[in-house]
This record gives sequence, C-alpha cells and structure tokens, in this order.
Amino acid sequence: MSISRRDWLRLSAAGAALPFIPGFAMRRSDDPIRLHSNENPYAPAQSARTAVLEALDETNLYTGPAIARNLEAMIAAREGLRPEHVVLGAGSTEVLRMAALAYGLSGGEVVTGYPTYEGMEESAKSIEARVHRVPLKTDKSLDLSAMDMRTTKDVKLVFVCNPNNPTGSICEKEELNDFCMEVSKRCTILVDEAYYELVNHPRYSSAVPLVKAGANIIVSRTFSKVYGLAGLRVGYAIARPDIAERLRTHRTPMAVNLLGLRAAIASLNDERFLHYSKTQLAASRNQITATLRGWGHEVIESHTNFVFFHLGREIGGFQRSMASQGILVGRPFPPYLDWCRLSIGNEEEMARFTEVFPQVMSTPSR
Ligand SMILES: Cc1ncc(COP(=O)(O)O)c(C=O)c1O
Repeated sequence: MSISRRDWLRLSAAGAALPFIPGFAMRRSDDPIRLHSNENPYAPAQSARTAVLEALDETNLYTGPAIARNLEAMIAAREGLRPEHVVLGAGSTEVLRMAALAYGLSGGEVVTGYPTYEGMEESAKSIEARVHRVPLKTDKSLDLSAMDMRTTKDVKLVFVCNPNNPTGSICEKEELNDFCMEVSKRCTILVDEAYYELVNHPRYSSAVPLVKAGANIIVSRTFSKVYGLAGLRVGYAIARPDIAERLRTHRTPMAVNLLGLRAAIASLNDERFLHYSKTQLAASRNQITATLRGWGHEVIESHTNFVFFHLGREIGGFQRSMASQGILVGRPFPPYLDWCRLSIGNEEEMARFTEVFPQVMSTPSR
C-alpha cells in the first residue's frame, strides 16, 4: 500500500525537472503541513517578493488610485478588454461579497451549487438574502439544468464555481455557454474562476468571452492560488462596465493594499513563475491522484490545486488523526462526509502525506 518517500521525490523530480528555481516557502519545522486551504506551496514569484520589499518604504502613505488603475489596465489588456471592465477586490472573496450586496440587498435571492465554495453563501446570508442550494449531480459536477430550473423570478444572482471547490470538477464549455446565454436573460451569473489558470482541458473555457460579448455575467479571479499571494489579498471581477460600476459601489474603499497591488503587478506577467507554479502543481496533483487510485480510492478528476477523493470513513475523525501526525486536510463537506479534500503541497509535503496516510488508515479514527 505504501510508496517510499524517496520514490515519491524521485517521481516528482522526473515529472517536473525545470531550470527555474523560485523563492522558497517558509515553514517552521514544527508547523503543521497545510493541505487544507488550497494555498500555493511554492510561495510568491521572486519578482513579487522584490516588489513587496521595495514597496515597504512607501507603506506609511495611503495608496493613491494610480497603482490600482495600473493593475486594472494590465488585467484588461491581458483579456482584450477595457479597464472599465475590471474591478479589484481584497481577494476574490471581496468580489463575491460585492456581488452579494449588489444583488441580494433589495430582496434578491441567490442560487448556488452544493457543496461549492462557501464565500458567496456566507456573504448572501450575512445580509439575510435567501440562498437556494442545488445539489451536485451524481458525478459530483454542478447540475446546471437544475440550477436553471431553480432560477425563479426572485433570483437575482446565480453562483457558478468553475472549477468547483471542493470537487475540482469543471463545467464543459458548451453546457456552460448554453446555461449562461439562457439564465443571464433572467438574472446575473457570477462565474468564479479562482482556479482558472490551472485548467488544461480542451472542453473548458473561461466565461470572459461571454462578458466580452456583453452578457449579464461577472467573472471572478484571484491572485491567491496560482500566483501564491493569498496573504496579500488581491482578486478581481471582469464584467460589463455597467455591471462593474454596480459592483464598485459596494467595494470597501482602499481595501486592496499597496503590497498586494505591487506583488500582483509584478507577478501577473511573470510567465516563468506561472509556468513553474502550474507545472509543479499539476504534476503533484496527477501523481497523488494516481497514488490514491492505486490504493483503491475513487478520485474526482481535478482541474485545481486540490483533489477530492473517497476516503471511505468519516472525515472528521480522519482529519483529527492526520492533524495529530502534523498534517492538516480539508474539512467535512456535507453531504459527502466520507470524502476528503486534499490540497496539493510541495514535494516534501506530499511525500510525507503518502507516508502518514496508510498508517492513519490502518488504525481506527480518533
Ligand atoms: C472557488 C474559490 N473562490 C474564491 C476563493 C477565495 O479566494 P480569495 O479570496 O483568496 O481570492 C477560494 C479560496 O479558496 C475558492 O476556492
């Protein structure tokens, strides 16, 4: 059942031997291994680190609007859009919150998949907006036709997480386009693309072309995942200028901080880091998927930096047992209480996981 740590490291090195060495991620030896929050273990790009260090000298000053405008223009240029299409937020969590406020405050209801990323539901509930959860299909992908049917006239916002968290699965391009063209006539759709940069599948497409075509759609993205800037809090929305303006009215003033802006500007077009980060994460993800399948676990095909797999025992007890061995894994995602969401760590961390996992599985849960 087990593969050795050395084998794991050898396989990882063979899969991802690249000439580029990024900065290293800090972890004190007694810190737990964090495979529970879908963070990027490869840390920020060196370009982002340098930019942050230089920006420290300016942190006594309020951040003027020019820096944010610069980043908005860069994002717009990358997407072939105008800066008016881009709204920055303190992480994409703030984008979800802006949308929940913009559409939920005046009695608007919200439709989401279930389970899905909880940021939208939490924001909607904080303003007492009604949320309709639509269960996933049996293959654990979003059930777009059920979400369509649930979109009654009081629904003002539909949340489509693509790829979906916690399952890692994608909606295929044609089905998503048909859904968006139909449902966006009735209400606004927010397509959460937090893991967009990691998807490499011929039947996947971003919803940005639909925004470009003038549809009633918001796309959210983040610098927290593939760029490794989760602690610096930068995300953005891409939407038609009138929708973008509506989101901006709910933005917390000056919430996006100077260090985050400088780091995002430095890393947005840092293709070498992006390539490194994507390649490493995909190689490790594919390797852990094969390992878990080899051990007999069902694993959903993931297009993200985490995998969702059938554990075959209650997740809460497993989580505690793994934590006692210094490894944090994902929390319970009802109704899949015998499934586990495992984030992709660096090679050492994944090697340690593959050592500890069989030991924990061979003993009763705590
Ligand atoms: C699907 C999805 N959307 C949004 C977020 C929030 O990310 P952030 O606020 O750091 O941009 C996450 C974080 O895990 C996520 O998985």
